[in-house]
Amino acid sequence: MAELNFSLRLPRNGALPFTIADRTRRVYDTVSSVYPASTFFFHSKAHDLALRHSGIRDGMRVLEIATGSGEMFRRLVQVNPSGTTFGLDLSPNMAARTQFHARRKFPAAAAHCGAVDARQMPFPDASFHAAMCCYLFELLCEEDIRRTLREVHRVLRPGATFSLVLIGQNVEFFNRAYAVAGSLVPAFWGRQVEQSVPEMVAEAGLRVERNQFVRQGFYPSRVLVFRKPAR
Ligand SMILES: C[S@@+](CC[C@H](N)C(=O)[O-])C[C@H]1O[C@@H](n2cnc3c(N)ncnc32)[C@H](O)[C@@H]1O
Repeated sequence: MAELNFSLRLPRNGALPFTIADRTRRVYDTVSSVYPASTFFFHSKAHDLALRHSGIRDGMRVLEIATGSGEMFRRLVQVNPSGTTFGLDLSPNMAARTQFHARRKFPAAAAHCGAVDARQMPFPDASFHAAMCCYLFELLCEEDIRRTLREVHRVLRPGATFSLVLIGQNVEFFNRAYAVAGSLVPAFWGRQVEQSVPEMVAEAGLRVERNQFVRQGFYPSRVLVFRKPAR
């Protein structure tokens, strides 16, 4: 059996000096069949809010970055039945699960999900009317966050929206618990980046239009919607 050692301690200040993509891929591959429970209990309220304010409607070309087990992806396909919805996730098991359930629930829809690294997306410039990304940036180092944001900017059409969900840093006891979890299994938890990423998105050339905190039980999220300026 393959060795599964996901622990690689983070420095005490919580910095992620480099992205540990191989470990992240393995850990998310391993948990893919149970991950829907986590989405249901901790992410579904923020997913609702992000979708509601995303401006996504039927007939668009929509991209979801880091689909996880596909709960948001199915919502996107549902609101975009005659458009095209693409998804990607680093973990092949997550991507396969997302594709399988979307096809089963919406057999007639153009919905495609593959195992792709968000840091280098295989889409031409200006391909999408909208992109959605929930709880990914916690897992990338700063350089890779910036690189991924450049990719997001590149694949969006002028006037397109970018909806982003981050783990909130506005609940002190949660922050402490997250720092412990992140230092034990960084490939799964990463570290919180909610206070720094919005500025990086702005630096990548997108303008913020909506910014809201939401809490599901003890789990805080921040939902932001950005827009790529029209030419
Ligand atoms: C915390 S989960 C979030 C899943 C889902 N977006 C949600 O809202 O529940 C993070 C996901 O990001 C994926 N991921 C991590 N690094 C990635 C990368 N470089 N490119 C694409 N996906 C990545 C993981 O495989 C995992 O499925």
